[in-house]
Order: sequence, then structure tokens, then C-alpha cells
Amino acid sequence: MTSTNSYDVKDPSLAEAGKQRIEWASREMPVVKTIRERFAIEKPLSGIRISGCLHITTETANLGLTLRDGGAEVALCASNPLSTQDDAAAALVDYGIPTYAIKGEDEVTYYQHITAALDNKPNLTVDDGADLVTTLHTRRSDLIEGVIGGTEETTTGVIRLRSLANEGKLKYPIVAVNDAQTKYLFDNRYGTGQSTLDGITRATNVLWAGKKVIVCGYGWCGRGFALRAKGMGAHVVVTEIEPVRALEAAMDGFQVMPLMDAASTGDIFVTLAGDKHVIDGDHFKVMKNGAILANSGHFNVEINIPVLESMSRNKREIRPFVDEYEMKDGRRLYLLGEGRLINLAAAEGHPASVMDMSFANQALCLEYMVKNKGKLTLNVHPVPVDIDKHVARLKLDSMGIKIDTLTPEQEKYLTSWQEGT
Ligand SMILES: NC(=O)c1ccc[n+]([C@@H]2O[C@H](COP(=O)([O-])OP(=O)(O)OC[C@H]3O[C@@H](n4cnc5c(N)ncnc54)[C@H](O)[C@@H]3O)[C@@H](O)[C@H]2O)c1
Repeated sequence: MTSTNSYDVKDPSLAEAGKQRIEWASREMPVVKTIRERFAIEKPLSGIRISGCLHITTETANLGLTLRDGGAEVALCASNPLSTQDDAAAALVDYGIPTYAIKGEDEVTYYQHITAALDNKPNLTVDDGADLVTTLHTRRSDLIEGVIGGTEETTTGVIRLRSLANEGKLKYPIVAVNDAQTKYLFDNRYGTGQSTLDGITRATNVLWAGKKVIVCGYGWCGRGFALRAKGMGAHVVVTEIEPVRALEAAMDGFQVMPLMDAASTGDIFVTLAGDKHVIDGDHFKVMKNGAILANSGHFNVEINIPVLESMSRNKREIRPFVDEYEMKDGRRLYLLGEGRLINLAAAEGHPASVMDMSFANQALCLEYMVKNKGKLTLNVHPVPVDIDKHVARLKLDSMGIKIDTLTPEQEKYLTSWQEGT
């Protein structure tokens, strides 16, 4: 493709199927729907151009339409080469949102797509993993002047952007949507928990009951997945590098040990650590014949695939999203989804109901950045507490759940020191 194309999707004729699935996702996104209705009237993003680098799914399509209805000119590209839903991408184009995303695109195309989305000359960026912001700060720094601010969707992206800010090189303010409570407590935990299990199940059709599952990393994603794997009857072992999190895992009832000790006993290894080479050559060496390896962290660096390649003598795709590596000693190890986040590679990513909260935060934080144009420092900022609480309230409302309010006596008690035993 050339950057002058107004879209690049696999097959535009998939648009109708995509629209139907986008409509289905919207059923479970009442908070985003409420915001979309207000945006359509108030047009808070009028005259604003937005370039978004996100997993191109039906939920993202609902966010894109919300931003468009808010008055923005939106262009979208994929935040991972293997996470695009081609029908959703085609539907977005049909809805008039230039979209650059093809499931299975190579790395060259992936970056061409980011550049094409940036050709929208954004005033706001929406990123998931910080590849778009990184491109904007390096190869497309000519476009930075027009940028008011940006948002970041995931833990790994926030880490990268904080590093950029710490080096004094961040050129516009970012709001870390990932760090909203209504994001990570639900999307990372329950979303990744369920969808990772779903992705591995769809790719392999394994029975979880009785399996020994090794979960690397007990952060928000890791604990969500560990909980769901346990619920399916698996024996779950957790590996960690942080003492407090290891302790939490132990007291949540999981076995905790170094990965090297667990490596020879695991049936399924899942890394959700957001770290590099978490599962490495020494672990491959001792793994059981038939062990399954999957990643659900942001980048495909968590499993050391080049070393796995070098230790094997043969490789074949035995099922979609399942590569069988025949090791030089004859054992077979199975790598899922090319080591890319398995919930989006082999399944549909998070259920719409959790993306409802993540993307409500996105929409409201973009509106916030426009309202506060020029006022935020060149740093990574938290989501304003008001926005976080507003999203929680809207979600509770949509679920028909009411909660108590403090009495004046309680309010006084909770803000004073005089009263004790
Ligand atoms: N699959 C998805 O859809 C999805 C959704 C949200 C986040 N993510 C990604 O998942 C990753 C984890 O996110 P999170 O919010 O849980 O982060 P987190 O920081 O809460 O948790 C990561 C945990 O991994 C641990 N860890 C780091 N290196 C380790 C190692 N070598 N061995 C064992 N443990 C190690 C850390 O101590 C930490 O407890 C990130 O890359 C994030 O961007 C993926």
C-alpha cells in the first residue's frame, strides 16, 4: 500500500458481517453508548483529528464511532500484527473511518499502517503499546507540533512512555488510561483472565481440568488468568519476581516457585508479565514433551522464540495458531499464536462489557485533553479521579446496581480525628 490510500483492509466486502458484530458488541457497551449520545449533541471533539493505534476489534469500532460522532476526524491502525478482526476493519472503512489493519500483516506493513494513520496529522493520539507515539517521536517528528495530547491503553505502553518522559523526551502530555481503576481492575484482570483462557481453548481445545498450568507474572492480567484457570480445574503454579505479588499469589492459594523449578512439570505455560524472555532456553530444555506455550502480555518477546527456533529441528503448523516445534532431542513443544497475545490472536480479545469501561475512559480522557489544551505538563498523567468514578457510576447504573451514600454523621466521622474508642 502507499500512504496516500485512504484505507488498507483485507477485504472490504466483509463490512456487513463486521457491522453486525459491532452492533452485537454495542449491546454490552452501555457506558460508551451514553457517552456517544452526549458527544453526538455536544460535539466536544469538533475540528480535532485523532490517530488511533488499537486492536482493531468490534469494541474499538464502537470507540471509533463515538469519537467520530463527537466531531473528530478519526484514522485507525492496528496495535498488533495479529489482533485485527478483518470484518471490523472493513466495517470501519464503510462507516467512513480510514482504517489500516490486516490480520497477519508483516512488520513492514504494520509500520506502514502506523505511518498511514499518522498521515491524518493528529491533534490527539490513542495508543496501545506506544508504537504510534514512538513512531511520532522518531520517524514522524515533523507532525508533533500539532499534537495536543494522547492516551495510552496498556501497561507496557505506559511503562515505555514513562521512560520517554523520564528521559525528558516526551513531546506532548499523555494520560495513562491503563492506570484508571475502572480500566486495570476489570479489563486487565477479568478481561484478560477470560479471554486468555478463551484464546488457548479455541486454539487447542485442551481440557483444563487436571492440567498443570504455569502462570508467569501475578500482576492484574496474571491474577485474572490464574483465577480463571483454577476455576476450570487446573493446578496453577505462579512465578513472580516481586515479593509482595508472590506473597499475594501464595495467600490466594497458588503454588509459587521459580520458573526453572516449575519448567519440567508444566502442561501449559502462559506468560503475562510484560517482560522480555520470561520463558527462555533453559526452560525449554527441561519441558515435558507436549508442553504448550502461550503469551498474553503485550509484545511477542516474553517467550524467547529465536532460541526456541534454534533448539528445534523442525517446525510445522499443526492447527491454526498452533506451531509444533520438534526439538533436537525429539520432544515436541507447541507455541500458540506465534507468541503474540493469544486472546486476540486466537480469540476475539476482551468481552465488550469490560472494554465498555476502558473505552469510556478513553473517550472521556480525550475530551479532557481538548478541554485542558496547553495546561498539562509534558508527562504521563493519571486519569482524573472524577472521570474514573463517573465511569464506575455509569457502569453500575447500566447494571441496575444501586449503592449507599454516606450520612452527614459518617462524612464527619471519616474526615476527623477526635473520635476513638
Ligand atoms: N492480552 C491482553 O489483552 C492484555 C490486556 C491488558 C494488558 N496486557 C499486557 O499484559 C502485560 C501485563 O500487564 P499487567 O497489567 O498485568 O502488568 P502488571 O505490572 O500488573 O503485572 C506484571 C507482573 O509480572 C511480573 N514480572 C515481571 N517480570 C517477570 C518475570 N521475569 N517473571 C515473573 N514475573 C514477572 C511483575 O512483577 C508484575 O507483578 C503487559 O504487557 C500489558 O501491556 C495484555
